[in-house]
Formats: sequence, C-alpha cells, structure tokens
Amino acid sequence: MQALILALPKAELHLHLEGSLEPELMFELAQRNNIKLAYSNVAQLRRAYQFNNLQEFLDIYYQGAAVLQTEQDFYDLTWAYLLRCKEEGVVHVEPCFDPQTHTDRGVAFSTVIGGVSRALADGLQKLAISSALIMSFLRHLPEQSAFLTLEQALPYKELITAVGLDSSELGHPPEKFQRVFEKALEHGFLTVAHAGEEGPAEYIWQALELLQVSRIDHGVRAVEDEKLMQLLISEKMPLTVCPLSNTKLQVFSHMSEHNILAMLDRGVKVMVNSDDPAYFGGYLAANYLALAEHLPMSKVQLKQLAQNSIEASFLSTAQKQPHLAKISQL
Ligand code: ADE
Ligand code: ZN
Repeated sequence: MQALILALPKAELHLHLEGSLEPELMFELAQRNNIKLAYSNVAQLRRAYQFNNLQEFLDIYYQGAAVLQTEQDFYDLTWAYLLRCKEEGVVHVEPCFDPQTHTDRGVAFSTVIGGVSRALADGLQKLAISSALIMSFLRHLPEQSAFLTLEQALPYKELITAVGLDSSELGHPPEKFQRVFEKALEHGFLTVAHAGEEGPAEYIWQALELLQVSRIDHGVRAVEDEKLMQLLISEKMPLTVCPLSNTKLQVFSHMSEHNILAMLDRGVKVMVNSDDPAYFGGYLAANYLALAEHLPMSKVQLKQLAQNSIEASFLSTAQKQPHLAKISQL
C-alpha cells in the first residue's frame, strides 16, 4: 500500500503554508531574525502540539508564524514544503496563505507574496510541481480587514488563483464575508472556504450559496444533513478532507471513526490533504498511510482518492490528463 501511495500522482488542495513551518525552521528563522520564542528547544515546542480543538491549535500556530519576517523567510518556508512534495509524488499543489497574519504585525503584503510566488515558480522549473495559489481571509477578523486584504492583493492578481476563508469557524459564518467574496468573484478570483470542520452543516450551505465556492475545505460535518449530501454528490462538489488534522483537533476521536471512505463510497468527491503538516504529524503520504492503517481501504478507493485530487484541482482538462492516465495505469 505504501509503495502505491507514493507512486500515485497526487494533488494537494488544502495546505496552509504557515502550517508547514517545521519547528527546526521556526528556530532557525527566530535566530536569523533575532526573535525570542516562548519555547527553549524543538522538543519542548513539539510537546506543546497537543490540541483539544481548533482554537487551541490556532493560538500556537499564529504565535509560530511570527518568525516569518523577510521575503527569503517566505521563500524558505514554501521551498521546504515543495521538497517534501517531491519526495511523496505530489505533482500539483494549491497551497493557501494568510496575509493578515503577517500584515497585521507589519510585514508587507509584497514581502509575503514575493517569497511564496518565487518558490512556487522554482517548484515548477526545478521540481516539475505545478501550483495555484490561494489567499485566505481570517474569518475571526472584521469584514473590513478582508476588504483591505483583497485590495492589497489586486496588484498581484496574476499570482493568485482563488480566495479562501479560514481560522476560527464557530461564530464566524460564511455570510459574514458574502460581500468580500462577491467583490473577489468580480475581480475574477475563484473561491473556496473552510466550512463544516467544527461548524455546522449550515455553514457549508452558506459557503455554497453565498460565497459560490468551487470547493469546500474540510466539510466532514456534511454527513449530518442528508439534503446537503445529495447536493454535494449531484454537483460533484469537492471536499478537501484532512484526516490527521481532524483527529489532532478532535473533530473525530480516532482515525478509525473518520468518515472519508464512507463519503467516498457514497460518491462524494473527497480527497486527502494535510492542512498543517508541521503541527498535525505528517505530510500528504502520512495522511494516506494513517487512513490505510485504521480503515479498511482498498486499492480502488486509494486510486479514487488520488484521482479526485487531480480532478478537483484548478488545472485545465489538458493539464489533468497525463496525471489521470498514470493513475489509471497503476
Ligand atoms: N488555519 C490553519 N489551519 C486551519 C484549519 N484547519 N481550520 C481553520 N483555519 C486554519
Ligand atoms: Zn485548513
């Protein structure tokens, strides 16, 4: 199973670049930028990665992102992630970044997008990994801050494919950002949103109807609403599911309880992603392996998950074709 997991061409569609910041790089950047971390070494930091819910994780995650200061820091972060992708047979990535996490502490938007986009361009040239970048709005911040971020992004429009919505879900429904997403759509951005991770199925409805999303990030609570399930199936709406994230943040109490394969078997377009791999215990292949270890996953199911990842990407039909052909041959 492990050999097939690695050999299958895979796309990763739900990955927070800030969530790929490994403790080792965090300490290196802290030293480079003269920043004092609240932890004295890597082992102590890793021991703090125990979360009872999304908010407990986010509190530590935003703290960690503060070491990212220069264009080179954002390059190094993104490049390190791409190297992991190369090792695991990930052929296409659609990572997201949170500009407000950085601009709110005085780092310029141009610094962030400069480093990230330079690494993604090198990823294509040197590693043959294609990409599409997603800019996420932090939903715990006011609508006005998202509008400002959208404006800051306009000069870099060619580098950004879609806008997204992340951070603390409960109490911050998609409807709070309907007007910002309308504006983003007018500017030609595609849209995605985290919904139904900790929040109710109602938030998935709102993301579909008010934000006109092309994909739902997480969406695992859709199973609580049969009418919604029927819609997701008939519309082939992709759900970017993140198994290790869901168990680390107690969305499911154990991997054996995860509903991804049940949804797959019902015809929902689910696929596997790593979300914040530096915090949740593994990159894409580790997520597939965790499923294979705790759920009875067949080769057919595994291939369907990889196929869904390519099909649900923002690649063109022609760009998807060679990856899909290789999957069918394996
Ligand atoms: N930001 C980073 N990871 C996230 C997640 N899993 N949910 C919401 N916001 C996030
Ligand atoms: Zn996420």
